[in-house]
Amino acid sequence: MKRVLVMNGPNLNLLGTREPDVYGAATLQDIEAAMASLAEELGVTLRFVQSNHEGVLIETLHEARGTCDAVVFNPGAFTHYSYALRDAVVASGLPVVEVHLSNIHAREEFRRTSVIAPVCVGQISGFGADSYLMGLRAAAACAANER
Ligand code: DQA
Repeated sequence: MKRVLVMNGPNLNLLGTREPDVYGAATLQDIEAAMASLAEELGVTLRFVQSNHEGVLIETLHEARGTCDAVVFNPGAFTHYSYALRDAVVASGLPVVEVHLSNIHAREEFRRTSVIAPVCVGQISGFGADSYLMGLRAAAACAANER
């Protein structure tokens, strides 16, 4: 069975209470539960990691090399400036799907750039919690070498 790492960056542990007008009412636990049921349907296993620390996210990507087949990643604000995470995505050698709840291209100027997206297989942004489900479908397809 293919293994997908679902990784969330800073402040995403606060989903549900953090700016619900922007990020929605679902908690990270709600999103993870929805992903777990889709994973069963898709026949993949999931590993969930959330961290507010860049180094933990980097080390999780290092460990994913050889233990996971694809990654769904919401880097939070690190999206916009973390070259270290970008390098870790490349180093992982894995297909990584970048996801965002909000449409980062329709927000403040600084959010419109992702330094991570160019080294990902693609980016899904703007569909709320559904971005993660779409991202999981994409990651499962990549893990199965369907794209
Ligand atoms: C976000 C968008 C980022 O700009 C922001 O810093 C987040 C959440 C999103 O999912 O829409 O923390 O990644």
